[in-house]
Amino acid sequence: MNSLRTLIRDVPNFPRPGVVFKDIGPLLADPTGFTACITALAAPWRDVPIDAVCGIESRGFIFGAAMALAMKTGFVPLRKVGKLPPPTLGIDYDLEYGSARLEISSGGLGAQGLPAGARVLLVDDVLATGGTLDAGRRLLEQAGAQVVGAGVVIEIDGLRGRMRWPEAIPLRTLLRC
Ligand code: PRP
Ligand code: MG
Repeated sequence: MNSLRTLIRDVPNFPRPGVVFKDIGPLLADPTGFTACITALAAPWRDVPIDAVCGIESRGFIFGAAMALAMKTGFVPLRKVGKLPPPTLGIDYDLEYGSARLEISSGGLGAQGLPAGARVLLVDDVLATGGTLDAGRRLLEQAGAQVVGAGVVIEIDGLRGRMRWPEAIPLRTLLRC
């Protein structure tokens, strides 16, 4: 994982003073690193039955879609506000810098061709305050899914995002910083 770490670029004071932005661009551009990242993200779930991988817009789409291919499941996007035609189910949440809303079609997972109670794995790039990941979990549960776990590339320890995640649901992160 140390080699993956070198492919994440820290950008201090972006998008706001005091925030360190984690730039995943070098990781995505490195074919060996990106492949190793997806392999490692998928590994803990090898023996876990999963119907779909859900990725959180925007950067969660990149890792989530690649994970879905690696795990041979479908992919369900959780969208930011205003991207889906109504009716939608939505949830508002706080970010490290600002607030946001995630949405899914109000038909829930059924509208994506998945059964009620579908077992889903939630994927994102960064766990910072944990607000985004937990909003994704709550939205999926509202939509009738069973969130069996979450996979995240980077966990920012100092922000204690893990504290917002239910202990009973496995949360696996690749890099802690
Ligand atoms: C970033 C990051 C995570 C989230 C983590 O998303 O991609 O999704 O913040 O922050 P949290 O744990 O404090 O909630 P953001 O919506 O800022 O940008 P993106 O659209 O590029 O993914
Ligand atoms: Mg994001």
